[in-house]
Amino acid sequence: MQVERKILLNPGPATTTDSVKGALVVEDICPREQEFGAVLEDIKHDLVKVVHGEEHYTSAIFAASGTGAMEAAITSAVPKDKKLLVIENGAYGKRMIQIANTYSIEVIAYQIPYGDYPDLEDIRKILETEKAISHLAVVHHETTTGILNPIKEITGLAHAYDVEVIIDAMSSYAGIPINMKELDAEYLLSSSNKCIQGMAGLSFVVFKKALLEKIKDNRRSYYFDIYSQYTGFENTGQMQFTPPVQVVYALKQAIKEYFNEGEKGRWERYSENWSMLYSGLQSLGFRFLLPYEQQSKILLAIIEPDHANYDFNQMHDFLYERGYTIYPGKGAKESTFRLSVLGDLHKKDVENFLNELKNYLNTAKIIIEQPD
Ligand SMILES: Cc1ncc(COP(=O)(O)O)c(C=O)c1O
Repeated sequence: MQVERKILLNPGPATTTDSVKGALVVEDICPREQEFGAVLEDIKHDLVKVVHGEEHYTSAIFAASGTGAMEAAITSAVPKDKKLLVIENGAYGKRMIQIANTYSIEVIAYQIPYGDYPDLEDIRKILETEKAISHLAVVHHETTTGILNPIKEITGLAHAYDVEVIIDAMSSYAGIPINMKELDAEYLLSSSNKCIQGMAGLSFVVFKKALLEKIKDNRRSYYFDIYSQYTGFENTGQMQFTPPVQVVYALKQAIKEYFNEGEKGRWERYSENWSMLYSGLQSLGFRFLLPYEQQSKILLAIIEPDHANYDFNQMHDFLYERGYTIYPGKGAKESTFRLSVLGDLHKKDVENFLNELKNYLNTAKIIIEQPD
């Protein structure tokens, strides 16, 4: 079965390979069968292997979008009488605060404008004064702006104060190389539909095995509880609640393709596509929200042109009709739209997109003025 290939420049769910799409069509199987349990068991290990955590880490998988894994990590990790420090420089930092608030977990927010770089000294001061903080949560690649937060330094800093770290690596996992042996963070989470290039419907938390005993009694959520989800699967070889069976097979295929391409290969493809997009947009006159050195090289937040004829929705519709999906901004400190290269995208796709964007600018008679 062949379907038309669409170029998704939104930051996930991403353009997938035909083989990942094809993996969705499988024989019907009851997810309580051993055969299916074996597939999940392999995925559980592979998800840890992607971030080099084989020795000390394991993973818990949930049938949920990425937010489910955020909720699982936060509600399972933070003890009842402790506080969570959240680094908020984007909408996903904010979401972590909202999750904590929902469960009445006390939060200290380190809030800065969306697009600003965190100041380690400011974080140190909070850790120094707020002794009840047990966990720090930070987004690795803040998809709101494309900024790459310094998780290595932040984790080191938190550990110096005996604070455990939760990393939302939703849009960097399997795109940007991450090494849990070196990073040493306690929890790292992502979903099936971003850089791993599977289908939407599963999210997971990679965590230190040794934490299981510690989090046993923290349960706040019936569904999103790491301890019971993990031990339930260990004891029965089945997920506690119905998994999206076909999405699991697609993830299995996506993981296989990830290892075939290799960590280096995937990162090079993404960063090269990003560089091509960056220079192409620059030559069309666009400017970017972030300085070059803070860019993730997976996503670009582009300043919206200040031109009477510019209209994001018109630009979106023009490009969408031609097979390209672009994405609006999300509360960054300047008005932006966003383009991401995560997914099964290649140089030719970026080149063709840039040509269509140029067509749009010509058709709409938009010339982007450069600031003085
Ligand atoms: C960094 C980050 N965290 C969390 C999420 C939420 O994931 P989902 O929309 O799958 O629930 C996203 C989604 O784009 C994200 O980019």
